[in-house]
Amino acid sequence: MIRIILIGYMGAGKTTVGKALAAELGVPFYDLDWFITTRYRRSVPEIFAERGEEGFRDLEHRMLHEAAEFEDIVLSCGGGTPCFYDNMDYMNSLADTIYLKAAPEVLAMHLKMGKGRRPLIEGKSHEELEVYIQESLQAREPYYSKAKYTLDVSLLDNESKIQESVRLIREMLKV
Ligand code: S3P
Repeated sequence: MIRIILIGYMGAGKTTVGKALAAELGVPFYDLDWFITTRYRRSVPEIFAERGEEGFRDLEHRMLHEAAEFEDIVLSCGGGTPCFYDNMDYMNSLADTIYLKAAPEVLAMHLKMGKGRRPLIEGKSHEELEVYIQESLQAREPYYSKAKYTLDVSLLDNESKIQESVRLIREMLKV
């Protein structure tokens, strides 16, 4: 049985790598944010606006318990998922968890484009974004580092990043 959960900061490539990995392994791919937004028929920014971050974390926690119970899946979760409730221990108890680790500069570069879809960084200038990433990454690292495996994606060459990540993950997990 294959149950792989990708964790890591916003912009680390969890969804992109997760999709490619699932396709290679021939199993379905799920994205926790997608699961939440489909179930509640609201976008992530709408949920933050209506229920606050606390409300979002509650839904995220509940949806994680549904999504992570599926067998033979690759699941990517949100950047904050491991850092609330006992989510990280829960994920470790039933899946191969992989931390896609990237340096703050790499994350800032990736996030420049998708800021509007992410309420925590919306409206920040490039400088503010870099400071925010540095500080919150440091706060989140203790949770992320609980993952069973870590893959440092900032060291990979840009061109072949996705294929190389998939190859390295398969090698680590022997799948
Ligand atoms: C968040 C990350 C987002 C999404 C929400 C909060 C976070 O997911 O869950 O905006 O706290 O880091 P991605 O990591 O897929 O962007």
